[in-house]
Amino acid sequence: MQEWALKRREHEEKIALVPTMGALHEGHLSLLREGKRLADHLVLSIFVNPLQFGPAEDLKQYPKTLEKDLNRAEECGVDIVFYPKTGDMYPKDFQTSLDLGALSKPLCGAARPGHFQGVATVVLKLFNIVQPNVALFGQKDYQQLRIIQQMVKDLNLPVEIKPMPIVREDDGLAMSSRNRYLKTDERQAALAISLSLVKAQSLVDQGEKNVEALVKTVHATLEETKKLKVEYALLCDPKTLDPLKTLKLPALLAVACRIGETRLIDNCVLR
Ligand code: PAF
Repeated sequence: MQEWALKRREHEEKIALVPTMGALHEGHLSLLREGKRLADHLVLSIFVNPLQFGPAEDLKQYPKTLEKDLNRAEECGVDIVFYPKTGDMYPKDFQTSLDLGALSKPLCGAARPGHFQGVATVVLKLFNIVQPNVALFGQKDYQQLRIIQQMVKDLNLPVEIKPMPIVREDDGLAMSSRNRYLKTDERQAALAISLSLVKAQSLVDQGEKNVEALVKTVHATLEETKKLKVEYALLCDPKTLDPLKTLKLPALLAVACRIGETRLIDNCVLR
């Protein structure tokens, strides 16, 4: 993979990378279509990265839909699918990882210790292996995106990070590979998540400036259904992810919930 990539770069041909863990959905496809537009060569990586899963998380049951993914990749004009084995990415003597800063501490970082360190480590490896000029990431994983942008800046990585908007189902549910875990009634309950974000924006549109009042409405909307347990619902600075005490727009509203065994996240930038 790296040999091929270095040859392309030697000839000044542009490479776009869409890093994924497979189980592709419309959100991933929007990244692939944009990647195709931005570069001469489009690489899709599929790797379920064990380093970013906690011991009690869903590594073992993470959905695998390789045949389907390959068909979709072809439809989107992917030139290369990079599909490494775990032992090739992390041989037995693998021992280096990244020390992340403040961006990795709040929100999902608080609930999933080590998660972002695992993400950053694999993304840095993928950048070194695939040598992309541009890499595309969805804004649904907003904190992940911010951490990667910061890593690229801090470590002077020669890659442009292209953030891509959240893709939603017609009823508002943000696309996620984990949505397929949801039973019918759970999926219905999950609609409260996007609804809570819409309600918050409409309150801001009506002039609401109080952070507590906004967060209270989000909680109330989420907790209307007993099926849903709120892990966090927070207003943060969209750049630093520091919690906001007073409303300053644009503001990131980030939500994480558990529905049964499934953990879902969503967010919007209030304007
Ligand atoms: O967002 C994901 O699917 C993963 O966290 C990523 C960026 C592919 C790293 O494993």
